[in-house]
Amino acid sequence: MTSTTVNMDKIVSLCKRRGFIFQSSEIYGGLASAWDYGPLGVELKRNLKAAWWKATVHDRDDMVGLDASILMHPDTWKASGHTENFTDTLVDCKKCKKRFRADHIQGKCPTCGGKDFTEGRAFNLMMKTPLGAVEDESNMVYLRPETAQGIFVNFSNVLDTTRKKLPFGIAQIGKSFRNEVTPGNFTFRTREFEQMEIEYFTRPDQADKAYDEWIACRRQWYQDMGLRQENLRLRPHGSDELAHYAKACTDIEYQFPFGWSELEGIANRTDYDLKQHANFSGKDLCYQDNITNEKIYPYVIEPSGGVDRATLAFIVDAYHTEEVKGAERTVLRFSKHLAPVKVAVLPLLKKNSGIVELAHAIRRDLQKDHTTIYDDTASIGKLYRRQDEIGTFFCVTVDVQSLEDQQVTVRHRDTMQQDRVAVDRLKEYLGEKL
Ligand code: GAP
Repeated sequence: MTSTTVNMDKIVSLCKRRGFIFQSSEIYGGLASAWDYGPLGVELKRNLKAAWWKATVHDRDDMVGLDASILMHPDTWKASGHTENFTDTLVDCKKCKKRFRADHIQGKCPTCGGKDFTEGRAFNLMMKTPLGAVEDESNMVYLRPETAQGIFVNFSNVLDTTRKKLPFGIAQIGKSFRNEVTPGNFTFRTREFEQMEIEYFTRPDQADKAYDEWIACRRQWYQDMGLRQENLRLRPHGSDELAHYAKACTDIEYQFPFGWSELEGIANRTDYDLKQHANFSGKDLCYQDNITNEKIYPYVIEPSGGVDRATLAFIVDAYHTEEVKGAERTVLRFSKHLAPVKVAVLPLLKKNSGIVELAHAIRRDLQKDHTTIYDDTASIGKLYRRQDEIGTFFCVTVDVQSLEDQQVTVRHRDTMQQDRVAVDRLKEYLGEKL
């Protein structure tokens, strides 16, 4: 019997034990809501970003990429509305003095039950830092709270250099920063995080169609990468929760152990951003049709996802436990696109020099094509469990028999089925399956 229900404690513990995610600056007691990706976490996250980039940029004719700076001219944030609007309303409980987001208290202090609060005041979520040697207000810049604005301010640069025609989009992956009042749920809500964002420019009368297409396309991507369909749903925003720039927005939500929560938002940002930047910069940011000479401000459809949130969702979704011969087996069933390690090479006897030599030779050969691990630090049963727990697709075991018949045992992660495969056919065998 297989079980897929999991609580966050188990996920956090597995992530630490196996080297996916560590608490930031742990030796100093840790920094709240900041996390470091360990040797397996970094591979998983890189695979996820590479898969997104391939599907979003390389596999399409209408997309190009960008990597803009985190630090931007402060006027960017005046134009985008973040200086004025990117705020949460905070209140203090007069009894216990704790501070909360006003929309999180429902009339009662979550800590002490008190009902007397200070007046709400706006708290801007952007992080500030001085630029250069003088620390005064004139030198203050913000760490970007979204990667999107780096795309809008480069709209003309990209258009002039690529000569793209509408509709086309610009994709970007990068860090963003928000001074979240209530970070939490492990890597779900943090103050430093990575986004993968698309700004897709379209004629205004084509925007609704592009909006629907992107919602379907992005949902399908999560499924193609391995998330189970029943754990995904779409949630259109009500008009009262739309951001100041959006005409429509739909969230792709995932069923996390702590409930259905946003993985990615797809918004129709209209021509708000380009017009705002044109007004504030004094630059013409129109799109000109080269046949009709017509000038228009394109509408923008924005699929905006979080790398860390998606990584967490893929770990949660991959987590399975089952009973095998009276013992519990934990296995991360990552898809082949995302699995951090594809093949583990395991020598059955680490003191047998023939086995060790052959195992090293096999590993050297396989690592040209796949991410591999060599492990001889436990008994074979333990080595298999270890690889199951990190989601390794195949284990290749070299034994005494291998020295005689030049064959190795290939064990499949999900079925635990074992095949004997000739060493000179191994690359082809794995290549076909991966
Ligand atoms: N440019 C639009 C934008 O930034 P958003 O809904 O604020 O929209 C988009 O953020 C995505 O970025 C979210 O769906 C989420 O995946 C990720 N994200 C936002 N805030 C985050 C945080 N504090 N920690 C981790 N991920 C976050």
